[in-house]
This record gives sequence, C-alpha cells and structure tokens, in this order.
Amino acid sequence: MSDNVQTSKPILERFRLDGRVALVTGGAMGIGFGYAEALGQAGAKVAIVDINKEFAHKACETLQAAGIEAMVVLADVTQPDQVKRMVQEVVDRWGRLDIGVNNAGIAHWHDSETLDYADWKRVVDLNLNAVFLCCQAEAQVMLKAGYGKIINTASMSGHIVNRPQNQAAYNATKAGVIHLTRSLAAEWASRGIRVNSISPGYTRTALVEQFISTPEGRELEKLWISLTPLGRMGLVSDLQGAVVYLASEASDFMTGSDLIIDGGYCCW
Ligand SMILES: NC(=O)c1ccc[n+]([C@@H]2O[C@H](COP(=O)([O-])OP(=O)(O)OC[C@H]3O[C@@H](n4cnc5c(N)ncnc54)[C@H](O)[C@@H]3O)[C@@H](O)[C@H]2O)c1
Repeated sequence: MSDNVQTSKPILERFRLDGRVALVTGGAMGIGFGYAEALGQAGAKVAIVDINKEFAHKACETLQAAGIEAMVVLADVTQPDQVKRMVQEVVDRWGRLDIGVNNAGIAHWHDSETLDYADWKRVVDLNLNAVFLCCQAEAQVMLKAGYGKIINTASMSGHIVNRPQNQAAYNATKAGVIHLTRSLAAEWASRGIRVNSISPGYTRTALVEQFISTPEGRELEKLWISLTPLGRMGLVSDLQGAVVYLASEASDFMTGSDLIIDGGYCCW
C-alpha cells in the first residue's frame, strides 16, 4: 500500500502474508515455534533459526507437514558471522527477507550481589546484543528493498520487576530490547522498515517449565497466577495473533511500539 492512500482491502486480507519471507530466531520450540507456525499459516515462507539442530529440524518438518514452506538455518545468534550467514542463507534460498523475528533468549535467576559476571554477560549477549546483531543484518537487506518488518521479543520483565525471583540481568536486557526497538524504529522509519516488539507475560514453554517443575516451583506458579488478573499463565497460542499483525500490512502505521500480552499482569 502506498502512503496517504486509504486501502479498501478487506481487513482479514490485510493480515495475509502470502509471498512474504520470514525468519524466526529461537524458532525450534516455545514461543519462536509458535511465531513460525503463525507466520506460515498466514502464508509466509519461514526459516527456523536455532542453535538446537534436532529441534530445529523437527520444527521444520512439522511446518512442512502442515503445508508451510520452511527451512532450517543453524546459527548461534550471539556470533556476528553466523548472524550474517543466517540472513544470507535465507536470501540465497528465497531471494528476499521481509520479516525478521528476533526471539531467541534465556532466563537466569540469581541474587545480584553474588551473580557471576560470566552469567550476566551470557544473558546480555543473547537477550540484547544478539537482537541488535540480527536487526542490523536483517536491515541491511530490508533497507535495499525499502521494506521490512522487524519484531523483537521483549518481555513484561522489561516493564516490571518480577517477584519473588531475582533476575536483574534478564529484566535489564528486556528493557533494553524495548528501547532498542524504539531507537531502530526511529532510525529506519523513513526507509520502509517498521520495528516493534512483543512483551509476553509468563508463558508455558521450556524456559519457564525449568523453574516451575519442582514442588517449590509449583507454589511459585500459583503466586504468579494469583498476580495475573486473567487468572492463568499464557500459552504460546495467545501470542500468535500479535506476530501476524506486526508482520502484516494491518500494522503499517505502527513502529517503535511494544505489545504487552500478559493477562493483565502489568496493570497492577
Ligand atoms: N516463556 C516465557 O514466559 C517468556 C516470557 C516473556 C518473554 N519470553 C521471551 O521469549 C523468548 C522465547 O522464550 P521461550 O520461552 O520460547 O524459550 P525456550 O527456551 O522455550 O526457547 C528458546 C529457543 O531459543 C533457542 N536458542 C537459545 N540460544 C540460542 C542461540 N544462541 N542462538 C540461536 N537460538 C538459540 C533455543 O534452542 C530454543 O529453541 C525469549 O526471548 C524469552 O526471554 C519468554
């Protein structure tokens, strides 16, 4: 759609992604896989980018079995050369890159006064530095095309401080992703790239299950649910509509925004 022209295209058609090419980092499982599936169902070709070879191939086969055109790119997104290769492999295969979903991330809980500096750096490297590297490599292709949609995974932890667990590195990186998103949005808006983020609340994935699978963890889960106005934890499927919206022309007047999807947790 050109600027300043009212579209008459029906609203659900504006959510379609036919002919678009997407990549999703951390796409082998959890939220990333949910994003890849949603983008594929909306019509995009999807590259699953992940460090986990076995899960990446399984995810790709699942998408292909559902009729989605998909490929695997094995990459550690904390490594600049691997990030450049990630984008190149997608462009070599499909000739373009329209949608970059920068989602791979880790959580780490530890009291700050004794947090090992190596652990701090590990979290910052994946949750923030790698998001920048991916945005940069994706933009180098998108700026030439004059079009692109970048969607970063932040977290409600970029807005609030979770309790009772101590996770300063995680919270700081997610706040960083939200402001990085705004900064890149402002920088690239006039050249056709929209940059937005999604901030999930507690969502049932392996990342969270590692903390709540013990008896103490189950008590924590009850506490989190009691602090969530909608009274449950999020599911990956709760996030799928948002990624399709941000990837599609339905959101063309939106950039630098963060969509919080947390069952209302941040409301109080
Ligand atoms: N689950 C939640 O409650 C929740 C809440 C808010 C935000 N998030 C964010 O959502 C994102 C995805 O979380 P999830 O719960 O699906 O996690 P997950 O652990 O289930 O999946 C993460 C994926 O990232 C991949 N990965 C890890 N390191 C990588 C690297 N260096 N290079 C490439 N891939 C790598 C893993 O192999 C895995 O497939 C993260 O950024 C996380 O911080 C999660």
